[in-house]
Amino acid sequence: MTTPDLDDLLARLRTDDGGPLREDSPVAVDAADRLLLDEAAPWLAAADAGDVAVVDDRFGALTLGATALVRGSSGGATTDEPGRADGVVRVHQDECTAEAALAANAASTGRLGAYQQHAPGPGLLAGARVVLLRLPRGLAALRDVAEHVAREADPGVVLLAGGRVKHMTPAMNDVLGESFADVRASLARGKSRVLVARSPRAPDAGTPFTYPVTVDLPDVGLAVAAYGAAFAGASLDLGTRFLLEALEGAVRDERSGGAAARATSGAAATRGSEPRDVVDLGCGTGILATWAARRWPAAQVVAADRSDAAVRSAALTARANGVADRVRVVRDDAGATLADVSADVVLLNPPFHEGAALRTDAAHRMFATAGRVLRPGGELWCVVNSHLRHRPALERAVGPTVQVARDRRFTVTRSTRR
Ligand SMILES: C[S@@+](CC[C@H](N)C(=O)[O-])C[C@H]1O[C@@H](n2cnc3c(N)ncnc32)[C@H](O)[C@@H]1O
Repeated sequence: MTTPDLDDLLARLRTDDGGPLREDSPVAVDAADRLLLDEAAPWLAAADAGDVAVVDDRFGALTLGATALVRGSSGGATTDEPGRADGVVRVHQDECTAEAALAANAASTGRLGAYQQHAPGPGLLAGARVVLLRLPRGLAALRDVAEHVAREADPGVVLLAGGRVKHMTPAMNDVLGESFADVRASLARGKSRVLVARSPRAPDAGTPFTYPVTVDLPDVGLAVAAYGAAFAGASLDLGTRFLLEALEGAVRDERSGGAAARATSGAAATRGSEPRDVVDLGCGTGILATWAARRWPAAQVVAADRSDAAVRSAALTARANGVADRVRVVRDDAGATLADVSADVVLLNPPFHEGAALRTDAAHRMFATAGRVLRPGGELWCVVNSHLRHRPALERAVGPTVQVARDRRFTVTRSTRR
């Protein structure tokens, strides 16, 4: 494919962003995607589609661009090499919303059959000779991908990882250097840069992957497990800690029949009859879900997140705390697959960023989901940044909202479903 053809293909791609158009709204193909494709072009031109893996493509530019730049595809012919059976570009995207955006763009450009989604692991990487990676923001996420590429791809693999210069740090080179002997940076273009890693280092036999890590959090009496890309990693987010303290206080007061209990009387999360069905919306590593399953031993808990690393972490966190039989993980967009009127309590520490930009759309869609899935009288317990005003949105989406706790940074609210 000549460059004008590639430009034409890329110009047809769209984002999945339904939010208001703003200066920092994402574009379907940004300068980092374009630079990554240009840097990868010589390697792609010498590769078949089955030699290529793409990780964390945002809207499909890397995957569909790669399908256009490779030497050829086996057209579905089978080979003996694991993972290459279909002769198509292999892809893993952490977020299900990114998967949907790629699928929509593949459909509109007639390339639906040109790639295949895979879970992280050998199915994604075995035999891969070219790996394109949209640089994650966190070093743990980068280390997780780099270790898998170094150990599972072809020994001659080249890993090209691109991003915006303002989000890149020298520590990223160091992290790639842990897994590859040869790491260099491209020249910057359009405020973007590509890191190129080659010569995978062979780990000592039996060395485990760094992730998932499991860590004890003694102050909340839980262990947390995290894959590299999961929000907050194997630590307790400060907002989550504040929400847990408020919940613990409410449950304790109710059980001891104290004054605070009378103030919160009738609260589904705290009254004598304990909640039967609990949802942890945007569950990350599943700390809130696991706390709920431990606190309410008869409850069934759903932990939902759009991130694959999050739901895999949440499942492990539940297992590490002995409640895996009552915590079901779901990967969807803002709880879209949860049944109407099916929950007594929703716990939420919502996202307020999309990449680097401050965006409230996902949080507001989660408020709407809470309103939809809660039974009448059920409660949404939410922690938000104190400087953001969310009460009107919570009242509209769910119902009457009270402030349960507040400090300089965080506010915990309880909204009761009308
Ligand atoms: C602030 S973190 C909270 C994580 C976890 N509940 C905790 O307390 O540590 C927000 C979570 O929402 C998830 N998220 C962001 N946008 C989402 C969406 N549209 N649908 C589902 N989950 C989303 C992120 O992946 C992240 O795990």
